[in-house]
Amino acid sequence: MARVAVVTGGTRGIGEAISIALRDKGYKVAANYGGNAEVAAAFTKATGIKSYKWDVSDFAQCQAGIKQIEADLGPVDILVNNAGITRDGTMHKMSFEQWNQVIQTNLSSCFNMCRAVIEGMRARKFGRIVNIGSINGQAGQYGQVNYAAAKSGIHGFTKALAQEGAAAGITVNAVAPGYIDTDMVRAVPPNVLEKIVARIPVGRLGKASEIARTVCFLVDDEGGFITGSTLSVNGGQHMY
Ligand code: CAA
Repeated sequence: MARVAVVTGGTRGIGEAISIALRDKGYKVAANYGGNAEVAAAFTKATGIKSYKWDVSDFAQCQAGIKQIEADLGPVDILVNNAGITRDGTMHKMSFEQWNQVIQTNLSSCFNMCRAVIEGMRARKFGRIVNIGSINGQAGQYGQVNYAAAKSGIHGFTKALAQEGAAAGITVNAVAPGYIDTDMVRAVPPNVLEKIVARIPVGRLGKASEIARTVCFLVDDEGGFITGSTLSVNGGQHMY
């Protein structure tokens, strides 16, 4: 039986590439999305991967979303917590909303989603959880106290849950992308982005498919001894 994988923020950007790569590996994939119904419909039409709308920052919606997916596809074996937003701004200009939206959407979502699947994974003695962190959670980034705190939180969350899951056959790992060619990175002011790319030893932005193949590596059935790790995929920009 094909394993069931859920990818949050799975219809655009890095998440879209992860959903497609997992489908191509033979998994049954469900792609969650938060807002852009038009893009999600086009994604489903193009890929055949069903998309599910809910807000990952809402605990009850995560419970309901997983319940629906399990009714449609079966128990969830693989969870990729990819959904994330930026609300960049320097501290002295940042509103509480900018702080809170990023913490809730990027970090609390990991609790909400893991809580919805963890009991089933423990009962079945198998699970693969991959949380998408960031180079900016490892190194910090000017204008991103909210995002860096959330992503850094994801790295700690990953190591703690890895310890809890180990005896139950559940691995929990993080991938820390650098600057990847997506809408999120294209929103960085061009003069700022130019300076960032100049500091990437590989000399270019990453591709979403380069994150997707890392996720596929970690969720493989053969990956049972890799847990609590953070795999940096950043073109050498930060070696950690
Ligand atoms: N280090 C030091 N100083 C910096 C700096 C940096 N990295 N970036 C900007 N500054 C300085 C500027 O030189 C400027 O100084 P002066 O006033 O002396 O000229 C001052 O800070 C103000 O800069 P801005 O004009 O840029 O200020 P702003 O308020 O308009 O914008 C900002 C600030 C929103 C942080 C903007 O610079 C920005 O968007 N930066 C990009 C942040 C970024 O990298 N975000 C990543 C998004 S992608 C992502 O997050 C995905 C992932 O995981 C990698």
